[in-house]
Amino acid sequence: MKALVLAGGKGTRLRPLTHTSAKQLVPIANKPVLYYGLDAIRDAGITSVGIIVGDTAREIREAVGDGSRFGLEVTYIPQEEPLGLAHCVLIAREFLADEPFVMYLGDNFLVDGITDLVDAFHETGYDAQILLTKVAEPQFYGVAELGPDGEIIGLEEKPEHPRSDLAIVGVYTFSPAIHEAVRAIRPSARGELEITDAIKWLIGNGRRVHSHFVNGYWKDTGRLQDMLECNRIVLEGIERAVRGTVDGLSEITGRVVIEEGAIIENSVIRGPAVVGADTKINGSYVGPYTSIGGDCVLENAEVEYSIILGESAIRGVSGLTYSLIGRNVEVTRAVGVPNMNQLMVGDHSKIQVRA
Ligand code: DAU
Repeated sequence: MKALVLAGGKGTRLRPLTHTSAKQLVPIANKPVLYYGLDAIRDAGITSVGIIVGDTAREIREAVGDGSRFGLEVTYIPQEEPLGLAHCVLIAREFLADEPFVMYLGDNFLVDGITDLVDAFHETGYDAQILLTKVAEPQFYGVAELGPDGEIIGLEEKPEHPRSDLAIVGVYTFSPAIHEAVRAIRPSARGELEITDAIKWLIGNGRRVHSHFVNGYWKDTGRLQDMLECNRIVLEGIERAVRGTVDGLSEITGRVVIEEGAIIENSVIRGPAVVGADTKINGSYVGPYTSIGGDCVLENAEVEYSIILGESAIRGVSGLTYSLIGRNVEVTRAVGVPNMNQLMVGDHSKIQVRA
């Protein structure tokens, strides 16, 4: 069995971060989302992985390399334009050959991995398996409607009026029958070749398609609230490890990871939280559910429930919460302008200041 990982596309909902970097590489507890998927694929016993790459190909290649670090053999498959999930299967035809495969959307995050799904596929011999889970806003997903015996009676991609609250999770298993399906379908109203339509085609042509419910936690990390929620879930499971330096004036409470080279002085860190390598924290408070990347500086700052990417600096700013701060960002106190905020912010940014 092979795996096809989708790491192309455009990350419009996570702008401005995704102007400069791939949405699949945004970190959760200081580890890129994509790495969790690659680990899950390896844990399911698969080694041959094709990765679809688009505009951010260089960055994905730098992050994943030849895959040996994950115990995988990676082949990169460039996609000229994000023409849809089924288009990814079309262009991966040669790599996939006539083997069954798992298709894994690179921005999806499953706490319990995919081993059960892959094992079930081997046992049953279905042509496709999809994963479903209940969501609050099904209109943002592929949606499945099930019959009285759990059989799939309808599938729709991002319907305006969803017929159920069962979202299709971004991990699928397919037999080679999917190749005929992706060749047969036409682009949807949004101009993409939808995998949902290809699965519908399989059902319509008498192929066996099965659905499972996701037991553990699942998120598509496309939006800020989803990223922060995934970060919270992963941090819930970390073990305390202090590899950096903490001075006698600091207080580190609960499950906190402090990476090598990090220096904590005169500060309070309440876990669960992670602090990346070589980050310096001085006179600051870091509250629960916070991930701070490597090479950052926090001076007289207060932050909680947030993700801060590497090489950023926060100086003299308190009350930062529910925030996603990109790489190489500076957040400082405005001097000489009382009660005023001074901003230099990139396109598509979102800033909420105290009124
Ligand atoms: O996350 C689950 C949802 O994923 C499903 O419920 C939907 O049925 C499915 O269509 C998909 O919807 P999204 O709108 O979230 O897909 P998105 O455009 O975000 O793409 C998913 C991943 O695939 C992402 O890592 C980018 C990559 N991609 C996407 C397209 C359209 C490609 O590599 N190439 C593409 O052409």
